[in-house]
Amino acid sequence: MKLCVNVDHVATIRQARRGIEPEPVFAAGLAVLGGADGITVHLREDRRHINDRDLNILREVVFVELNLEMAATHEMTDIAIKVMPDMVTLVPEKRQELTTEGGVDVIGQKEHLKETIEKIHDAGIPVSLFINPHIMDVDVSKEIGVDMVEIHTGLYSNAKGKRQEEELHRVMEAVKIADKLGLMINAGHGLNYSNVRNIAAIDGIRGLYIGHSIISRAVLIGMKEAVREMKEIIVRAKG
Ligand code: PXP
Repeated sequence: MKLCVNVDHVATIRQARRGIEPEPVFAAGLAVLGGADGITVHLREDRRHINDRDLNILREVVFVELNLEMAATHEMTDIAIKVMPDMVTLVPEKRQELTTEGGVDVIGQKEHLKETIEKIHDAGIPVSLFINPHIMDVDVSKEIGVDMVEIHTGLYSNAKGKRQEEELHRVMEAVKIADKLGLMINAGHGLNYSNVRNIAAIDGIRGLYIGHSIISRAVLIGMKEAVREMKEIIVRAKG
């Protein structure tokens, strides 16, 4: 099972100062050294974290699977066709949201999605659709021609106890149906070091797409060393 690491949050920290560090491209390189099978970035309409420059450099230096998450807009479709990521994941996007809040409205947006998928396919790029774990959404995804679905694990991740078991069951059912229909299946959102096992144990899943928990852990794991380095520079400054 692939682990594809989303580095958006590294760019979010950079944008807090509109500066040049931390560099998401370096983070992607280190993620690959750590064993990441893929790198994901979400190019948002408002460019609040990852920007066009990041995407262009990542396309040049990332030789594992580069996944471009994007809304199904004309602007983003044109960018995808120009940059040629290894795959595109279509996600819903609202300006005010903190993160992608749910799967794509596959049924409501069916015709528009179909058109977008065809355009991206014409450029030779495989398309994944981020969907809620609903059987109808899986069926319609197949109908409109996607290669892959990414099952939204957010509700599973946020739930506790019995509710979490129910959400896990929903994810498992969606995986089963998608598998029967011959779709490739990914999963992601909200997965962390304590809830990932149940999802990673499901047969038929091709890859897990994880960002927040990995970047959060990286900040803490690196903290001691970062402070130690700064302290050493200060202590030695006067000879
Ligand atoms: N998959 C999709 C489609 C997403 O939008 C996100 C968040 O950017 C993720 C996976 C990763 O979610 P998280 O950051 O909670 O691990």
